[in-house]
Amino acid sequence: MGSHTGGEGRVLLITGASSGIGAATARMASAGGWRLVLAARSLQALQALAQELGGPERALAVQCDVTEWEQQQRMVQLAVEAFGGIDAAFANAGFGGPRGFLNDTPEHWREMILTNIYGAALTIRASVPALTERRGQLILTSSVAGRRVIAGSLYSCTKHAVTAMGEAARQDLHGTGVRVTLIEPGMTDTPFFDQRPQDALLDEDIARAVLYAITQPAHVDVNEILIRPTAQEG
Ligand SMILES: NC(=O)c1ccc[n+]([C@@H]2O[C@H](COP(=O)([O-])OP(=O)(O)OC[C@H]3O[C@@H](n4cnc5c(N)ncnc54)[C@H](OP(=O)(O)O)[C@@H]3O)[C@@H](O)[C@H]2O)c1
Repeated sequence: MGSHTGGEGRVLLITGASSGIGAATARMASAGGWRLVLAARSLQALQALAQELGGPERALAVQCDVTEWEQQQRMVQLAVEAFGGIDAAFANAGFGGPRGFLNDTPEHWREMILTNIYGAALTIRASVPALTERRGQLILTSSVAGRRVIAGSLYSCTKHAVTAMGEAARQDLHGTGVRVTLIEPGMTDTPFFDQRPQDALLDEDIARAVLYAITQPAHVDVNEILIRPTAQEG
């Protein structure tokens, strides 16, 4: 049974790689020898990160709005063309919004639901054929908000759906050798927040958890990692 202490040229695809947790995970994985496929809508930020990580042989920038099926298919196709396959796919793109069912706008709700739920499902759909070939790994960013219900938070509802999706995918993929990991961060200091939080986790704290999950031997399936900052109560 093979054991991996690092990437050794293996390929990690990340959605939401232009910022925050996704970008920090890309940097940490790259330092560990992984080749990266960096996806998000902000192409310039992705290209700057790809350059920082060593250019096209080490990191590929792909513009992708995760709510668009054609763009997700293209993302995976470009990844396979560039690097020959995908060993791990990290469905991480997402955002929140104001709490309160009378706050926020219906249009923003639609975008949030489409990005956080439909987008994650499309990333699974697009990447599973390539992951199956490599007996690879799927990682989804849920949240502490996907484990407890937060008053008035439709965002919390979307993350409950992602938590369910991780377990649904795990059972669906049983027997293929593909492993599934849910990452459930508490308050993390990223551009997710307009006003940056105090006493929060750092994006690299979550990146470390992702790297832990994707560097286990093939017979070890890390299904969930829930992480709060020590200062967070709820
Ligand atoms: N920060 C926290 O406290 C916290 C806690 C628990 C869970 N999370 C989750 O962690 C994940 C990453 O968030 P973060 O904290 O790192 O925030 P962030 O810095 O704002 O990153 C969000 C990423 O998602 C991408 N994204 C948003 N909509 C997209 C779309 N339609 N298509 C493709 N990419 C899209 C953004 O890139 P573009 O704008 O360039 O597309 C960006 O790269 C999210 O799923 C979030 O819900 C965050």
